[in-house]
Amino acid sequence: MALTDFDLVLFGGSGDLAMRKLLPAMFARDVANDLPASARIICVGRADASQEEFLHTIETTSKPHIKASTVSAAAWAKFTARITYVSLNATDAGTYHTLVEALRKDDAITKVYYLATPPAIFSQICENLKSNGLVTQNSRVVLEKPLGRDLASAKQINAEVGKVFEESQIYRIDHYLGKETVQNLLALRFGNILFEPLWRREWISDVQITIAEKLGVGNRLGYYDTSGALRDMLQNHLLQLLCIVAMEPPTSIAPDAVRDAKLHVLRSLKKFTPTTLAQNIVRGQYRAGHVDGKAVPSYRDEPDAPEHSRTETFVAMKAEIDTWRWAGVPFYLRTGKRMADSLAEIVVRFKQIPHSIFAQPTNSFQPNSLVIRLQPDEGLRMNLMAKTPGDGMRLKQAELELDFRESFKSPRMDAYERLLLDVLRGQLTLFMRGDELEAAWEWVEPILNNWESDDSFPLPYASGTWGPAAASALIGRDGLQWREEVLPED
Ligand code: BG6
Repeated sequence: MALTDFDLVLFGGSGDLAMRKLLPAMFARDVANDLPASARIICVGRADASQEEFLHTIETTSKPHIKASTVSAAAWAKFTARITYVSLNATDAGTYHTLVEALRKDDAITKVYYLATPPAIFSQICENLKSNGLVTQNSRVVLEKPLGRDLASAKQINAEVGKVFEESQIYRIDHYLGKETVQNLLALRFGNILFEPLWRREWISDVQITIAEKLGVGNRLGYYDTSGALRDMLQNHLLQLLCIVAMEPPTSIAPDAVRDAKLHVLRSLKKFTPTTLAQNIVRGQYRAGHVDGKAVPSYRDEPDAPEHSRTETFVAMKAEIDTWRWAGVPFYLRTGKRMADSLAEIVVRFKQIPHSIFAQPTNSFQPNSLVIRLQPDEGLRMNLMAKTPGDGMRLKQAELELDFRESFKSPRMDAYERLLLDVLRGQLTLFMRGDELEAAWEWVEPILNNWESDDSFPLPYASGTWGPAAASALIGRDGLQWREEVLPED
């Protein structure tokens, strides 16, 4: 669907996200000729920089994040001609006249306000836009994470932004939903007849969802130390993946059909009590170690880290969903920084065959499993038992593999490219609705409260490993192992 003309306003327009992700994403779409000829990008910042100075900043800060082969002089000139820098103080309504002047007055032109700012000023920006007459039926607002730090703050954001924008004008970003492979999960589940009959407690033994990163906190310690892995990754990205794996088939891909189905999963998650959370959740914090053969420091020795920080950089948990489809099926969720590898994957393990007709005992059969690799090396792998060639009847695990890059040669889109296009098209399916956001916070809230009131420390783990040993014990109690622990036999 071709885009109609728009003015895209980036609050936080000279910030890290704009430079690393948003402007490169818009550039890529410009090169692909997706943007209307007169579409404009207005970068808003506090600094009193001139247009020339700002374009110089983009040249030095954002351009290095763009694939060099796509940046011809002509393409760059076309792109930068779309950009206007506007200086204002986002929390001072009296300074918005600069933005009023920069925006085109025609109401038929879609105005998108992208708030890549701290959430504490979301509501102030919305009010200021409104009081300056900048909000109409044809305006949209995009909210970047963190969308609150607990249920109360998420509710407050929803309520305050909701005073200015209708729910249908609000786009809450979870960039994981923009990833090609996450959408492929929808295709896998609802574009094939094969999986749905088996996609339930009768046939599935357990599900593992892992997002692991080799990176540490980098230069984001100020934010991260007040957040931690539970808020930064689990409450949003992991729960969104869980929703897509576990949701009932929606009636269509329409935004509310999909979002209703996800909400149902979030509301069906079994609530933790102080006892169950102590048994089913492990939190950790990285210590010094080696990643890719390079020595890396302990979290507490990262620049500006508090000496006795209790912030978790790793979480592993066993979650359960109280529905007829999923009762009794453990969903093991895990995320961490400074892990042994960088990957995001979902492993759906099926039950053991009920009886072996072969000489091999039943328990020598590897249960079937479906591994959905979100990144890197996007693909699907189905592990099956097959006969080994030759005499006799010995069965061994073999793999059916689908490599997305091999199978589909068409160019990939970065998550932000896809999500920005969807915002500009007015397509809400891949964005969280307000009630979804609140349901996710509501579920993690008892964990946050418990950790806050408890003065114990996260378990230490060496950088470059898969987290504290307690994470293996957590899954081991159920007679299971994390995928990498069984890989040699795969
Ligand atoms: C962000 C988190 O939302 O996701 C970061 O704030 C994390 O801490 C990042 O590194 C991971 O995203 P991706 O796309 O690199 O897997």
